[in-house]
Amino acid sequence: MDYMDSGLRYTPTQDKDWDADVQFLPASDNKKLEKKKGPGKVGAVIGVLVLCVVIALMAGLLVWHFHYRKDVRVKKMYSGSMRITNQVFDNAYENTNSSEFKALAKQVKTQLKMLYSKSPQLSKYYVGSTVQAFSEGSVIAYYISEFSVPSGQESAVDHAMSTMDKLVEKEQRSIYRPGNSLLLEDVISSELDSRLFSTKFRKFFRFSEHTRTNHIGQIRSPGFPDSPYPPNTFMQWQVRADPGYVIKLDFDTMNLEENCRNDFVKIYDSLVAIETSVVQEMCGYYAPSEPLAFLSSGNVMLVTMATNQEKNYPGFRAQVSQVRRGSTNTRCGGRLTGNVGSFTSPNFPNYYPPGTSCEWTIEVPAGKSVKVTFKKFLMDEPGQGGSKGCRKDYVQINGKKFCGDHEDNSVTETSSTNQMTVQFYSDGSYVDRGFNATFEAVDSADPCPKQFQCKNQRCIKSELKCDGWNDCGDMTDEFNCKCSSNHIHCKNGLCKPMFWKCDSVDDCGDGTDEEGCGACAKGQFSCKNGNCASEKKRCDGRDDCGDGSDELDCGRGTGSSSGSVACTDLTFKCNNNKCISKVNPECDGDQDCEDGSDEINCDCGRSKFKSTRIVGGQDAEAGEFPWQVSLQTKRFGHLCGASLISPGWLVTAAHCVQDDGRNKFHQPDTWFAYMGLHTQRNIGNTVEKRNIKRIIPHPNYNDYTFDNDIALMELESPVAYSDFIQPICLPAAQHDFPVGSTVTITGWGAQREGGTAATVLQKAQVRTINYTVCDKLLGGQLTTRMMCAGILAGGVDACQGDSGGPLTIPSGIRNFLGGVVSWGDGCARRNKPGVYTTVTKFRGWIKQNTGV
Ligand code: ARG
Repeated sequence: MDYMDSGLRYTPTQDKDWDADVQFLPASDNKKLEKKKGPGKVGAVIGVLVLCVVIALMAGLLVWHFHYRKDVRVKKMYSGSMRITNQVFDNAYENTNSSEFKALAKQVKTQLKMLYSKSPQLSKYYVGSTVQAFSEGSVIAYYISEFSVPSGQESAVDHAMSTMDKLVEKEQRSIYRPGNSLLLEDVISSELDSRLFSTKFRKFFRFSEHTRTNHIGQIRSPGFPDSPYPPNTFMQWQVRADPGYVIKLDFDTMNLEENCRNDFVKIYDSLVAIETSVVQEMCGYYAPSEPLAFLSSGNVMLVTMATNQEKNYPGFRAQVSQVRRGSTNTRCGGRLTGNVGSFTSPNFPNYYPPGTSCEWTIEVPAGKSVKVTFKKFLMDEPGQGGSKGCRKDYVQINGKKFCGDHEDNSVTETSSTNQMTVQFYSDGSYVDRGFNATFEAVDSADPCPKQFQCKNQRCIKSELKCDGWNDCGDMTDEFNCKCSSNHIHCKNGLCKPMFWKCDSVDDCGDGTDEEGCGACAKGQFSCKNGNCASEKKRCDGRDDCGDGSDELDCGRGTGSSSGSVACTDLTFKCNNNKCISKVNPECDGDQDCEDGSDEINCDCGRSKFKSTRIVGGQDAEAGEFPWQVSLQTKRFGHLCGASLISPGWLVTAAHCVQDDGRNKFHQPDTWFAYMGLHTQRNIGNTVEKRNIKRIIPHPNYNDYTFDNDIALMELESPVAYSDFIQPICLPAAQHDFPVGSTVTITGWGAQREGGTAATVLQKAQVRTINYTVCDKLLGGQLTTRMMCAGILAGGVDACQGDSGGPLTIPSGIRNFLGGVVSWGDGCARRNKPGVYTTVTKFRGWIKQNTGV
């Protein structure tokens, strides 16, 4: 309102200057005005007047704008801490209501005001400070300072605040100091995370907890576990331990909204929210099996939590205890000797503490070399771009720094002597889970006996050299290769197996292996059936390919408002029998069918937990594949896998339910199913057991060729979905899974050919393989209802006991049941990928029999 008033103040009638200005403007129009008949002079006068008003309004707005902008003030909040060296900590300082606290806080505030007054940028805009807490050492003060800064001046204030430590140093060196002034050191300040002082907060909770030896405290979000946490609330927990101890914060539950912009928990290695001391920020849902314990560097920690109005989740609960500084969990470094051994970062597999550095000296018998291999290596920090630069936390060996996340066993180093030093360093902010390493004595002349040594020191089997696969991880096994006759000679110098030629995957990396594959000429479109059609005819509404693939993804029939297209084998058919041209429209989050049928029954194919990033790991996380089912019999225990597709139905392999001598596997009462199972024989309360009511093997299953190897099982009673039990999405018959994509196989099957079954659910990543290529590799045994996936170098595959289980394919934000584990030539053999029943071919049959 005020703004409008100030704009209107400048009206032409009131301001003489405006008349003068106006004269310059319409000069070129004068003649036109004269020529005009009709309104004549009166019209001209009105025109000029209107113009005047318009110009006046604009000018007014401009003046108002600049006037107003000068007044725009930005609230800037900084948090900080400082060490007071000439005071002794008093227990009363823990209580903000004590007179001791108040007295010292007053002194700190005076001193802060004095300090800010020395800086012209700060003194002008300073509003005030509040002291949040004190802790030992001698006394550390934690405070928040507020400034009201004219917009445009923010960076000057930021800069002044970032040089506060210098200012304090200078001040402290000045000779004259009033008698009662505080001696300050280690001044740290940083801008407060603006999400922590949102104006939307309606409620504030402040808690404090002091742990003692032999006492385990607990902190939890308000309402946990009985009700969701409160909306629009700011919460903080100040946690303290006795001097000489560090704090261990061990979360047993962390279940927040997925989006960190809405709700989050942030842990600080301080008693105030200083960004340079953030230990971790968390949101979403963490699997209970994931280690989630943090250590502080000193005897204080701050946990903050902020929520917005929407969607409130259960929250968190953590155990708080104190650990003597230097005890096993917190200690690291030392001397290691012998032929083999292992060591880990402090607190592994939980998070290492901030502000830690340590050094291991490893010594192996004389004449040998030390070889260190990191089984796990997780040292990532947000905003650090993975492993570039290693400016924050790192491991250093032989002057070489390592940081970021690395695949299991991919970081290895060998020394040139029988000694090696390994350093570990974590800075003051953001921690990770660290590493787990082994060392061994190797022959320095031949660190990889009978194997090939990669440049990165890894040893790989000699036959893996020049096989087209990057087995070293740094590609060195694929350089300087002489391509044999059964290899493609890529233009970039790599050799790739001949059977990868024309498999639609760019294996060379420069496209050589996909050149001259009978691809269509320039200006031609390659149809899915191998035909070529003129590019001009794409999306012209007519089927020029013969399979309709030139009419897919045409933008028509891809939105709820747009029309439908002619139905073909490749188009998606909505429930109203209209077809749309979008590829894979089902459950992709956009409504594409007029009737919305592409987005119904889409609560599937998602793990409830935040995706963990245990790279290359073999054990699945609990709840990571909530559709995985274990099919068991009384006599044999676990025999096959299956996938949950609805509360009452499973998909498995037909060969699992074929009678075998006296074993009547076709009979439902032979079987029972475990849903939500993670570890065999560990039937916890997340697990649901069901008998089987009905088994429907595919009527055309052929037990000689394994054609149509799919079966349905109906549970005696439906299961309730939970964090550990969820269905997988079924792909539509037309769903297109591109060849070469990475997919996941899971199961409790044998861990190698002829080996024993796994106890913990295993996961492995493989790639889908071109049909023709695979058929050739497997001696022409494929039918059109089979698909292949594997790692052609061998070593990763499904095996006995995995049958019937899922081949999980991610597509968009959900996971789809792409295949059912069916058969293979042995397990994980070189050039022998696993074979899976193609689920898209059976979509109609599944629907017919189950209604799903
Ligand atoms: N038929 C096996 C079973 O009953 C599964 C074989 C899968 N083999 C493979 N190499 N992918 O469990």
